[in-house]
Amino acid sequence: MYSEKVLDHFSNPRNVGEMADPDATGEFGSSHCGDTIKVFLKVEDGVIQDIKFKTFGCAAAIASSSMMTEMVRGMTIEEALQLTNEMVAEALDGLPPEKMHCSCLAADGLHKAISNYRDGIR
Ligand code: FES
Repeated sequence: MYSEKVLDHFSNPRNVGEMADPDATGEFGSSHCGDTIKVFLKVEDGVIQDIKFKTFGCAAAIASSSMMTEMVRGMTIEEALQLTNEMVAEALDGLPPEKMHCSCLAADGLHKAISNYRDGIR
């Protein structure tokens, strides 16, 4: 049902945890299932230097969150805003159709954190 990459990122999530002094955070809750993500960002000169996440959700949500952090580290915030949940799911070698909404949690949490960063909200 799940790809090897999903199982890997679920079993060994990258960049999981909190950040002591983030430049911004973003929280997002899925209207589909009620699961949540919190994203912590460190930004320098418009580039994402560090990113961490805490996700209370299913295996697909945790794997998507982990993959999302790996994809956007080193991107400008403008580039990171272009990241879609489909790109995250594709990088995981796909998700079952009924689990695609779980990848939205990762993309929407990231976008919320960037939006807060731009608004000066920590
Ligand atoms: Fe809620 Fe997957 S079932 S994020």
